[in-house]
Amino acid sequence: MDRKRIVVGVAGGIAAYKACTVVRQLTEAGHSVKVIPTESALKFIGAATFEALSGQPVHTGVFENVDEVPHVRIGQQADLVVVAPATADLLARAVAGRADDLLTGTLLTARCPVLFAPAMHTEMWFHPATTDNVATLRRRGSVVLEPASGRLTGADTGPGRLPEAEEITTLATLLLERGDALPYDMAGVKVLVTAGGTREPLDPVRFIGNRSSGKQGYAVARVMAQRGAEVTLIAGNTSGLVDPAGVNVVHIGSAAQLGDAVSKLAPEAHVLVMAAAVADFRPAQVATAKIKKRADDNGAPSVELVRNDDVLAGAVRARADGQLPNMKAIVGFAAETGDANGDVLFHARAKLARKGCDLLVVNAVGEGRAFEVDHNDGWMLSADGTETALEHGSKTLMASRIVDAIGALLKG
Ligand SMILES: Cc1cc2nc3c(=O)[nH]c(=O)nc-3n(C[C@H](O)[C@H](O)[C@H](O)COP(=O)(O)O)c2cc1C
Repeated sequence: MDRKRIVVGVAGGIAAYKACTVVRQLTEAGHSVKVIPTESALKFIGAATFEALSGQPVHTGVFENVDEVPHVRIGQQADLVVVAPATADLLARAVAGRADDLLTGTLLTARCPVLFAPAMHTEMWFHPATTDNVATLRRRGSVVLEPASGRLTGADTGPGRLPEAEEITTLATLLLERGDALPYDMAGVKVLVTAGGTREPLDPVRFIGNRSSGKQGYAVARVMAQRGAEVTLIAGNTSGLVDPAGVNVVHIGSAAQLGDAVSKLAPEAHVLVMAAAVADFRPAQVATAKIKKRADDNGAPSVELVRNDDVLAGAVRARADGQLPNMKAIVGFAAETGDANGDVLFHARAKLARKGCDLLVVNAVGEGRAFEVDHNDGWMLSADGTETALEHGSKTLMASRIVDAIGALLKG
C-alpha cells in the first residue's frame, strides 16, 4: 500500500499506553503518522514517547505553530484518523462538534474515514449518554469499535477494555484498503462463524491436523462484530490468534466437536460462515495409550481412516428439513487446487453444486497461498450463478467483501 497520512488521536484513558504500539505498527507499515494527544493523555504517556515513535512533533492545542493553521490543515490532509483510546469525554466532545483542542479540531475538519476505539469502565460504556454518542458517531459514518471484555482499571472486569493494538491496526488498515467507511449494517444479525483447523486424535499425544491458521475466519468474525452483528466463533486450532473483541468464542478440537457445536448453535443463527478447515477423515481407532515405537520393530503401524460427517452439507440439509428456521445465509469455503480434470474454478463450481450453500468463497491453495499468510485472493460463487473475483488484499479486506456479499444476500 502507498504511504498514507494517518492521524492517531490519543485521549486520556488508562489504555493510552496501547496507542504506542498502534503508532509503532502503523509507522512500521510505512505510513506517516501524526500523533495528537489530548492534554489528559499526556498525564498517562509523555509527548517524548509519541514524538520518538512517530518521528514527528506532538502538540495538543490549537495555538501552537499557528502560522501552519494546524487545527484545519492536519484534518484536511489526513487519509485516516484513528482515536485510540477514545474516552467517554472525547466521544462526547466529538458528537457535540467541539473544537477546543487540536484533536477535536482535526476531527471536525477530517473528511477521510475516522475510527474510534473506545475504552472506559463498563458503567461509562453502557451509560445512555455514551450509547447515544456512539450511535450518533456511527450514523454520521465513523467506525466505532466494540470494546473488548476483560480487566479494566483497578480490580474491575467487563466490557470497556481497549481491543489489542493488532486489532486496531488491522481495522485501520482495512479502512485504508477499502477507502470508505465500514457500514454498521449487521445490527440484530446473529452470526455463527467457524475458523481454524481441526485435529483428529491418533493417541493421547498425536493427531492428524491441517495447515489452516484460522486467520480468514477470525477476520470474518471480527468484521461482522464491528459491523454490529452478534457473533459466535467456533475456533479450532489457530496457532495463537487473538480472539476478536466483542465476539463469543467457543474453542473445539476435532471435527466431531465442531459438528456438535454447529448443531447446537446453528438453530439460533441467521448466518453460518464455515471457514474452518474440517478434517474429511479421522482415525478409525484412537489409542488410549501412546502408540510405541519398538526397538525390535522397523515396521510402522498403518492407520485406518473413516469419514467424518460433512458439517456444511449437514447444515444445508437441516435448513431444507426446516430445522434451522432463522437461517438466511449459509456460506462455505473451498481451498482448491487444479488438476488434470479442471482448474480451481471448475472444482469450486462442482463443490457449490454438491454442498448446496448460498455462497462459496474459493481460494487457490499452493506454496505461500491462502494458508498461514496474511493476504489472500479468490472468488465468490453464488447459488444464483454469479461469480465475483476477490481482489488480492489482506484477509480482513477479503472478509469485508464477503460480509458485503452476505449483506446483499440478507437484503435479497
Ligand atoms: C487513572 C485514570 C484512568 C482513567 N481512565 C479512563 C478511561 O479508560 N476511559 C475514560 O473514558 N476516561 C478515563 N479517565 C477519565 C478521563 O481521564 C477524563 O474524563 C478526562 O477528562 C478525559 O479527557 P480527554 O477526553 O480530553 O482525553 C481516567 C482518569 C483517571 C484519573
